[in-house]
Amino acid sequence: MDNASLSRKPPQASELVADEIPEAVRDHPYPEAGQSQSKKKGLIWKLLGLAALAFGVSIWLHLNFNLFPATSQAEQTQQNPAPTSSASPSVPSPATTPKVPAVPENLLGHLPYPEAPAKDLVSVTSDGSVKLRSSAAAKYQEMANAAAASGVYFAPISGFRSLQDQQHVFFDVKAERRQNASKRAEVSAPPGYSEHHTGYAIDIGDGSAPEHNLSPSFENTQAFEWLEANAVAFSFEMSFPKNNRQGVSYEPWHWRFVGDKQSLETFYKAHSMKK
Ligand code: DAL
Ligand code: ZN
Repeated sequence: MDNASLSRKPPQASELVADEIPEAVRDHPYPEAGQSQSKKKGLIWKLLGLAALAFGVSIWLHLNFNLFPATSQAEQTQQNPAPTSSASPSVPSPATTPKVPAVPENLLGHLPYPEAPAKDLVSVTSDGSVKLRSSAAAKYQEMANAAAASGVYFAPISGFRSLQDQQHVFFDVKAERRQNASKRAEVSAPPGYSEHHTGYAIDIGDGSAPEHNLSPSFENTQAFEWLEANAVAFSFEMSFPKNNRQGVSYEPWHWRFVGDKQSLETFYKAHSMKK
């Protein structure tokens, strides 16, 4: 080491050029303070990491175990609406499963029936006032002709009735007669529950004894006697015999056709298991 070197003072900080200052010191004019900042940053990142982890775990618990039911039932329904039938056709949601059948099994002893399509109705009287479904009408004509051949003359009284017709019979006429609902139901079905809607049922009178029309005394007529003996051969049967299980009054004049698949199903398929 020469004298010059010995006599040279160490350079003041202000004399150092930027390139000579170590990089770490350049960023942190106070090296110790810089190290402390760095530790703080590391801590913050760790805390952020832990928070993210906790958030992820809570989401997972909520989705799998619903451990945090903070929302109300209504909100949950909004957030997770019941699946539509197309989404899961085989598993109906409790919210969409009907608890009460849309149509009650019976009403005051009468069973529900659909209205016959108008295009399938055929008149069995010359004035067109009494109509039946074509299959029943054809068989009824055959039966009436056979009876007439034996000197017994049928008088068709009422065949197909629309819901509106039955509405009038059950509500308007019976109200005029001051009958309550149960009393009305003993002799007339409520609208929607009459066999007459089907176009397969017909009320038959005796052309030679009209005073017995629509009366239990019809059982004393020749027409009834003939029907009892022969109607089955034409696939007609009495709907409401004495003490029938529906509790409907005895109607010896009311007969229904059960001579094809559709009529048979109409009267027996849904009701055959009933006592
Ligand atoms: N008289 C029968 C029950 C009816 O109204 O359909
Ligand atoms: Zn009838």
